[in-house]
Amino acid sequence: MAPVNCTNGAMVGCVAALSLSLATLSYFFYIQQRTFKHPKSKPQKPICSKTYGSGIVGAIGNTPLIRINSLSDATGCEILGKAEFLNPGGSVKDRIAVKIIEEALASGQLAPGGVVIEGSAGSTAISLATVAPAYGCKCHVVIPDDVAIEKSQILEALGATVERVRPVSITHRDHFVNVARRRASEANEQALKHRETSQTPNKDREQTTGEIPEEQEKNLKFSRDCTGGFFADQFENLANFRAHYEGTGPEIWEQTEGKLHAFVAAAGTGGTVAGASQFLKEKSANIKCFLIDPPGSGLFNRVTKGVMYSKEEAEGKRLRNPFDTITEGIGINRLTQNFMMARLDGAFRGTDKEAVEMSRYLLKKDGIFLGSSSAMNCVGAVRVAQALGPGHTIVTILCDNGMRHLSRFYKAEYLSQLGLTPSATALEFLGLP
Ligand SMILES: Cc1ncc(COP(=O)(O)O)c(C=O)c1O
Repeated sequence: MAPVNCTNGAMVGCVAALSLSLATLSYFFYIQQRTFKHPKSKPQKPICSKTYGSGIVGAIGNTPLIRINSLSDATGCEILGKAEFLNPGGSVKDRIAVKIIEEALASGQLAPGGVVIEGSAGSTAISLATVAPAYGCKCHVVIPDDVAIEKSQILEALGATVERVRPVSITHRDHFVNVARRRASEANEQALKHRETSQTPNKDREQTTGEIPEEQEKNLKFSRDCTGGFFADQFENLANFRAHYEGTGPEIWEQTEGKLHAFVAAAGTGGTVAGASQFLKEKSANIKCFLIDPPGSGLFNRVTKGVMYSKEEAEGKRLRNPFDTITEGIGINRLTQNFMMARLDGAFRGTDKEAVEMSRYLLKKDGIFLGSSSAMNCVGAVRVAQALGPGHTIVTILCDNGMRHLSRFYKAEYLSQLGLTPSATALEFLGLP
């Protein structure tokens, strides 16, 4: 019996040892799988999962929709703000920066090593500068010199090159948008020349240009290895509209489970209001879409009366700056391709004073620190609530936060000079108790 017992014991021991090794082996493979999930070779597609996104670009969009408690309670409506200031580049413009660059790369108008060029009063440029490196591109920005200084400081810190120009009418060849368009052509010419010279033997090159490459390099506007320029053209490029039609609109629809009655936003390029309104209207024609328009902008007239402006007010005819508002990035006196895609039921006018008061009210009541266009959008949300009455769900866009607006919108002396010092204790500036 003893040998039998011995054999049984050995067998039990063997089975136990085998199970232990199998368990160890499978644990080892499990750990290895978890730790070395990425293949060694470079993946064809960016890796992302449900729990993590791919790089900075993967963190753009899907922003929270937040109930603005003070405004909701005061109006009896659900007033919801899409917190676009939580995008990595700090504004709603991250969405269009990605879309503009991706479409340009897909169409071959831009290649890695190229420079994306924009004439922007700030936010779009900051977003382009933020995402361009993720695509192997650089960013050059032409900006009016009356825009808050912190915007160009951020751009330079992000590695973009910045050109500040004096503000002139869009019809002037030196308007910042026109300068930006010109710079893109110059970058393309430079890249072409560089390609041609690098294919020509050195001796011939000296004969044709009379310059040696090192001397030429000193005169280059863009880096020597620049593969070309692409003018982002946020006003006319419909990639802007598509970013909101494919992103912002569907997110709002999903986050409200389709239970919203109205959408309202101001327009700069018109991309946000156009993309979101077009998508929401396609989902449900009952959703009312509105524009809130700052002083100096012709869009209110366009939406409510079908005319953009009187002849005297047309851009290029007015002597003073047509954007007579302290709200940055919104208001315009021309019809852009993007705005023309909007599907609107009406428009409201908002004043600078209302935007300033709204920003301070939201800071005090909700702890929400908003930029000027977002504050104007919240004025719009209250106007819509007043027009529709209690019981409605209204969505607006919180484009960016107040940090980029310290030198003007949040500066007491600046506001005092303009007679815009905030003084409201509640929402009396909008006729609410
Ligand atoms: C801060 C800010 N808010 C709002 C807007 C307006 O958005 P859109 O251009 O989509 O009309 C802009 C546009 O430049 C902006 O910079």
